Amino acid sequence: MYPQRRLRRLRKRAIQPLFRETKVLKEDLIAPVFFDENLSERKPIESMPGQFRYPVAEAADVAQRLSESGIQAMLLFGIPKSKDESASEAWNEEGVIQNVVRAIKSEVPDMVVITDVCACEYTSHGHCGIIGDTPCGPDLLNDPSLELMMRIAVSHAASGADIVAPSCMLDGQVTAIREALDEEGFEDIPVMSYSTKFASALYGPFREAADSGMAFGDRTTYQLECGNAREAFLESEMDLSEGADILMVKPAGFYHDIIASITSLGVPVAAYQVSGEYSMIKAASEKGWLDERSVVMESVKSIKRAGADLIITYFAEDIAGWLNEEQ
Ligand code: PBG
Ligand code: ZN
Repeated sequence: MYPQRRLRRLRKRAIQPLFRETKVLKEDLIAPVFFDENLSERKPIESMPGQFRYPVAEAADVAQRLSESGIQAMLLFGIPKSKDESASEAWNEEGVIQNVVRAIKSEVPDMVVITDVCACEYTSHGHCGIIGDTPCGPDLLNDPSLELMMRIAVSHAASGADIVAPSCMLDGQVTAIREALDEEGFEDIPVMSYSTKFASALYGPFREAADSGMAFGDRTTYQLECGNAREAFLESEMDLSEGADILMVKPAGFYHDIIASITSLGVPVAAYQVSGEYSMIKAASEKGWLDERSVVMESVKSIKRAGADLIITYFAEDIAGWLNEEQ
């Protein structure tokens, strides 16, 4: 009548730390950071309390601060001084990201600099590439946009980026970028593809952060429908076959099953805890409804448990601080 198998034996307070299956480490984390060419001082992002748009001049300081907390990698987003239909600022040698990358790599050379390769912060219409007329109305044109991504990726690599991360969900994005990089002598620069990116309502706060709201339409003709698990797997499988070095699932929290399925492909998997995931936790914590630190740690631990090797999160610096306290 009494149980012989008692799993609680290993949960005694002193013993249980020996059996923790999942640990989040500082080196698992990538901090996304926004740089705005129009600013001379940092500006708070209202929909993401605790996050800022930084001026280009602060790039090295931000990298230094993250590095001191133990964060080894950053994912960079830029807001340019001008936008146009063809996103020409995105591949300007003296553009916002290009200048930020050079500043960080010259002052904090050990920081791994990853750049978001996309056009939505740089186009006047806010879409991720070139828009043209199609039989169903104006829409993102795949192949002309690929040429744009090739130029952007090469310009990021030329300014010193360690890894490029295409986020535009174009067909053939990895092949195109790989070929362009190799052609220019950047065959050692890895591609971290946003290979499985859903058309998610959780990107809402990011659009304020990166000033990338759309003048018309939405991203559902290029990003994935949230219920499509098979297609999500196929997207990552195709990017792998095109030569992606690292795959990514985005968002992270609502998509643990997808993260778990993609780990079977055998290359490292990153998961992006996106702006909406950040803001939900922040808002509830500010109201006193959730304990921020506990919920943040639970959220990233569960993303790692699902199989992610790397976690892109706006909480990176906070988490590093908490882990440092525990040491
Ligand atoms: C740009 C891009 C987006 C995000 C990362 N890169 C926005 C989008 O696709 O609309 C979202 C990140 C976030 O919400 O934190 N393609
Ligand atoms: Zn985009």
